[in-house]
Amino acid sequence: MKKRLLTGLQSSGTLHIGNYFGALKPFLDIYEEYESFLMVADYHALTTLRDKNEMHENIINVVKDYLAVGIDPQKCVIFRQSDNQDHVELGWVFNCMVTVPFLMQAHAYKDKVAKGVEANAGLFTYPMLQAADIALYDTDVVPVGEDQRQHLEYSREAVGKFNRTFGEVLKEPKEMILSGVGVVSGTDGEKMSKSKGNIIPLFGTKEEITKAVMSIVTDSGKTMEDAIAESVATNQAVVRSIPFAKNLFSIHKLIKPDDEYNDLFDFYMANENNYKNLKMTLIEDLEAFIAPMREKREKITNEEVKEVLADGVRRAKAVSGETLGKVREAIGIAL
Ligand code: ADP
Ligand code: TRP
Repeated sequence: MKKRLLTGLQSSGTLHIGNYFGALKPFLDIYEEYESFLMVADYHALTTLRDKNEMHENIINVVKDYLAVGIDPQKCVIFRQSDNQDHVELGWVFNCMVTVPFLMQAHAYKDKVAKGVEANAGLFTYPMLQAADIALYDTDVVPVGEDQRQHLEYSREAVGKFNRTFGEVLKEPKEMILSGVGVVSGTDGEKMSKSKGNIIPLFGTKEEITKAVMSIVTDSGKTMEDAIAESVATNQAVVRSIPFAKNLFSIHKLIKPDDEYNDLFDFYMANENNYKNLKMTLIEDLEAFIAPMREKREKITNEEVKEVLADGVRRAKAVSGETLGKVREAIGIAL
């Protein structure tokens, strides 16, 4: 029997290659080893989103993104939180398990309050809806980024409280912090982030890729000679990293298979100061990497997304319904 895995997807607008290597790819690498559930967290999005069209588009887009990078809906269950009412129901039960002071300690809520932003009650109880998402599927592991660690602690606490009160009905989940490639740098050498305008879009056109690569800052102020001098001074070997054109190389090596690393390294060494050539090659390689995903994404229709979600929620309900039945039995509302 495969172990169960569940994770929640929030739409984060235009994806970039940092999202791919930091979140999507690590997920892609493991999801088939488990019985996997991928849930679009649209009711969670309602805690902050107030635009009907944006909500609608985000739901469609996040599913398209996942399908385009190669997630196979036959090999996992892709569904939407709002399509399965079991989530809000168990969320309510969990709300009745935990105290207000406990929820007040949640980072997401505390941060809002610290910033003076008004927090709605949905945001306040957000961790209990997330706990329900997870507990309904007897989930073993929840692959998430480091920022979700506390939410998983809250999930375990809600499950623990329930079990201590009503008997061992629910499974305590474990977080599985995904180790991606670390931080992917953007065109300016800083962490790639959509808010910083330094991204290489994951589904970008060739023109967009070209524009992004042309804007990569190449002057690292360090030549190979500097690097060698420094290595002598610090008594360290010149590591096989590129001292010049660092920003180019760090992106380039991500999209090359490991066994081509040495060739790429040699290519850079042979092109020191020839940034034009390095950039042109990076554009070609990025295009070869991105084009198949971009083309696949363009072909996915909204209808197809709806079909995937309809099939997904049917499979999801078959599992969550059983768990919820046990919960209703345990709390005494099953007559
Ligand atoms: P952004 O910073 O562009 O707003 P998000 O915060 O929406 O990105 O991140 C979505 C996911 O992608 C998270 O799991 C995050 O860890 C990962 N991610 C985002 N940017 C990077 C990056 N530069 N390097 C590695 N992973 C990243
Ligand atoms: N809170 C998660 C995020 O912001 C999304 C999410 C909702 C989730 N439900 C979940 C993640 C269940 C893991 C499991 O990214």
